[in-house]
This record gives sequence, C-alpha cells and structure tokens, in this order.
Amino acid sequence: MNFSVLHQQIKQQTDASLLMLIDNLPNYAPRLKDAMRHALLAGGKRMRPLLVQVVGNTLDVPKKDQMAISMAIECIHAYSLVHDDLPAMDDDDLRRGMPTCHIAFDEATAILAGDALQALAFSVLADAELSEFAQTKRSALLSVLAKNAGYAGMCGGQAIDLASTGKAISLDELRRLHTLKIGALLKACVEMITIASEGLSEQTKDDLMAFAADIGLAFQVQDDILDVEGSSEQLGKPAGSDQALGKNTFPAKLGLGGAKKELELLHNNALQALSRLPYNTDSLIAFSELLVKRDH
Ligand code: IPE
Ligand code: IPE
Ligand code: MG
Ligand code: MG
Ligand code: MG
Repeated sequence: MNFSVLHQQIKQQTDASLLMLIDNLPNYAPRLKDAMRHALLAGGKRMRPLLVQVVGNTLDVPKKDQMAISMAIECIHAYSLVHDDLPAMDDDDLRRGMPTCHIAFDEATAILAGDALQALAFSVLADAELSEFAQTKRSALLSVLAKNAGYAGMCGGQAIDLASTGKAISLDELRRLHTLKIGALLKACVEMITIASEGLSEQTKDDLMAFAADIGLAFQVQDDILDVEGSSEQLGKPAGSDQALGKNTFPAKLGLGGAKKELELLHNNALQALSRLPYNTDSLIAFSELLVKRDH
C-alpha cells in the first residue's frame, strides 16, 4: 500500500476511535469533555499512531494491541500539548490551526483537560481488550508508558526546557533535553510494540530502539527548524515562538545549517539501524523520510 494512503487510513482510524472514546464518557462535566475533545481531535498528524502501526505491522503485532497502544500514546501527547501551550509554559494561542485549549475554553479547564487526558491514557491501556500474548504484558506496557511520560521522560524534558530557557546550555545538554521532552514518547511507541511482539530477539529489539532514539531526537530537531522556517499558517501553531521565548533549540545553538546537518546525521543513523533488521523495512524508511521532510 502507498505510504501516504496508509498514513491517511491510520489518521482516520485513530480519529474515529478517539472520538468514540470521548463520546462514551458520561456527560456530567460537559465543558471538560468538550475541552478534551478539542485537545484530542482538533487535527494532529497522528505520527505516533503511524509509528506504532508501521513497527507493529513489521513485527506482526495484532491490530487490537496496536490500537490500544496508539490511543494511549495519543492521549498523553494531546495532554502534553495542552499543558505546553499554557501561559505558565510556552503561552501559545494557536495549535493545529485552532485556538489552544486554554483560549478556546479557560485555563482551569485546560489544566483539567490535560490531567484527565493523562489519566485516560492509562485507563485505555489498562482496560483495552488485548491479544492473549499482550494481555500477559499489560503491566510492562503500562510501566513503559508511565516512565516515558513522567519524570524520566516527557515531564522531565519539559522541566529542563523551562529551567534552561534564556540560558546557554551545551550541545549534549540540548540533546538530552530534546531526547526527553519528545524522544521519550516516540521511543515508548516502539518499546511498547516490541513488548507486545512474541519471540522478538534482543538484538532486533536493540536495533529498533536505536532507530527510535534517532528518529525521536530528529523529530524535535525538525520541529525547531520548522519554528524558524515555517509560517504560522502552515504550522498551525505560532512560528517564531521559540526565539521569542529564548528557547534552547538546535537552530539557536548550531544555526539553521548546523541544525539541518544534525537532522541529516540522525536520519542516516536511523536508516543504518534499520538496515540491521531482518525484515522488509520499506515502510519504516518511508516513516523516517516523512518525519524529516515534513513541513508542518
Ligand atoms: C508537536 O508534536 C510537539 C513536538 C514535537 C515538538 P506533533 O508535531 O506530532 O503535533 P501534532 O500531533 O501533529 O499536532
Ligand atoms: C514541547 O516542545 C513538546 C511537548 C513535550 C508537549 P515544543 O514546545 O517545541 O512543542 P510545540 O512547538 O509547542 O508544538
Ligand atoms: Mg514547549
Ligand atoms: Mg510549545
Ligand atoms: Mg516547537
């Protein structure tokens, strides 16, 4: 199947399942529910579900396991964006071409929507009907999600981002910051799929995790480049936000040319990790291309 058709299909499936997830919640806090729906469903490229399903198909992981993992990850991702846009963090008013959650609703509702989406991620994974094998791995899946969303992952990265804003940090510190704030959740997508894959060798798991680490960091490098080169209209979020805030980014550290070289290096490393895998990796290669060449 053509890769962009696959992406569209995954986007539609993910959107439909997430909509159902929200619609099935009881109606006693309708404003909160609307804010959660706004955060989850106002667009989104669904790159993480695409990654889950591309790796999942490569390893023959059953669709229902892939879907449960995708939904949980997308709930964490959506919550992280709602909180990232808050006045206390990046103070942005545009996301996915729409007003950010705290603008469309209000700050308190946006904080609660983020909280509730985070909890929902864990309910989805705790309650989903999984395959017989993945069912035996449920607590490992929950543990990987918790670790990568929390202090040792996204939240830790966001804290370092805030603490280092306006200050000079080394390239290694910048790599760690980006690896945590964005890379961790992308790595979790791949790690959860490897856990749900029966009989996977340690070597293959290691190669897949090396691939995930490279594309995880590459994702944020490209996000930084787009913040400089893109327009707000094209990005659906305010261009130039990083510079306005004095954020530590790859273009700020290395210049635009240096950031692009770093991206190319990470892309090549990712492809090298893929070349070690005993599978047809065409769709994983296509995913990497999409990630580094995306324009929004
Ligand atoms: C945005 O993630 C956050 C960063 C990577 C910096 P995405 O670019 O995946 O956002 P959506 O889900 O497509 O809106
Ligand atoms: C942080 O990165 C992404 C999260 C962990 C939510 P950015 O602050 O660069 O994300 P954007 O550019 O607002 O999407
Ligand atoms: Mg931020
Ligand atoms: Mg931001
Ligand atoms: Mg950004």
